[in-house]
Amino acid sequence: MSDVLVEVHDRVAWVTLNRADVRNALSRAVNLRLQDVAASFEHREDIVAIVLTGAGDKAFCAGADLKERKGVPASETAPYLNAIAGAIEAWGAIRKPTIAMMNGSAYGGGLELAMANDFRVIVDDAVVGLTEVQLGIMPGAGGTQRLPRLVGEARAKELILLGRRIGAARAKEIGLVNEVVPRDQLRAAVDALLAELALCAPLSVAAAKSAIERGHGRRLDEGLAIERECYEVTLFSEDRNEGLAAFAAGRPPRYQGR
Ligand code: COA
Repeated sequence: MSDVLVEVHDRVAWVTLNRADVRNALSRAVNLRLQDVAASFEHREDIVAIVLTGAGDKAFCAGADLKERKGVPASETAPYLNAIAGAIEAWGAIRKPTIAMMNGSAYGGGLELAMANDFRVIVDDAVVGLTEVQLGIMPGAGGTQRLPRLVGEARAKELILLGRRIGAARAKEIGLVNEVVPRDQLRAAVDALLAELALCAPLSVAAAKSAIERGHGRRLDEGLAIERECYEVTLFSEDRNEGLAAFAAGRPPRYQGR
C-alpha cells in the first residue's frame, strides 16, 4: 500500500498520508511523493479542489520522520530538510483551493503542511504545535513564516519559541484553523466547504488565492497592482460570461474552469 494515497471523486482530489502506525510522519519518500502529487494537479481541469488528510484517528501528521532522521549525521541532513521543505512549498504552490482535513493532531512539519493549505478543519480532540525547539532544531519548512501570517507575530512567538502545544479550540480562537468539529462531523464539514467551493468559478478562486498570497506584506499600491494582474485572468474567461449570463437569466451558473 502506498504511503500517499490519491483518489479523485466528483472533481475533488483526496490525498491521504497513509502511515497511521507512525502517525503519518513525513519520511523522505513521502515528501518526494507529495511534491509529485502537488505538481500533478496543475493541468488537471477536472480537479477543482484538493483535500489533504491523514490515515487513522490519532494524528493528521506527526511531522518529520524522527526515526528516519535519527541515524543521519547533521552534515547529511540537507536532503531531508530539502525534501520536507520542498514538499510543503509545493503544496503551498498548488493554485487550486486546498483543504487540510485534520483528523487528529499535527506537530512540527505536520502543522507546517497543514498551514500550507487554504483551509483547515480539525477534530475537537486534536492538539497542534511547532515543537521543534524542544527537539534541538527549529521549524524549517515554512513554520516561522506561515504561522505569524496566520496568527500574528506575538502568538507565533508563543507557539514557536516555547514549542507550545495547544488544543483545537485555542487554535481556532487565534485563527490558526478555520473550523473545529466533533470527529464524526469532520467529513460533513469538509463536504460543506467543498459544496460552497463548487458554486464558485475555479479560475476566479485560483486568481483570488494568488492575489492574496502574492500581495501579502507588500505596500498597498504594489498589492493593488498584483490584484489587477490577477483579475485580468478572469476578465477574458468563458466562466465570466457564464456568470453574467446565469445572473441575468436567474439560473445557477455552470462553470467550466475556462
Ligand atoms: N517520526 C517517526 N515516528 C513517529 C513520529 C515521528 N514524528 N511520531 C510518532 N511516531 C511513532 C512513534 O515512535 C510510535 O512508534 P512505535 O509504535 O514503533 O513505538 C508510533 O508512531 C506511535 O506513537 P505514540 O507516541 O505511541 O502515539 P500517540 O498517539 O500516543 O502520540 C504523537 C502521537 C504524535 C502525539 C506523539 O507520537 C508525538 O508527540 N510525536 C512527536 C511529534 C513531534 O514532536 N513532531 C515534531 C517533528 S519536528
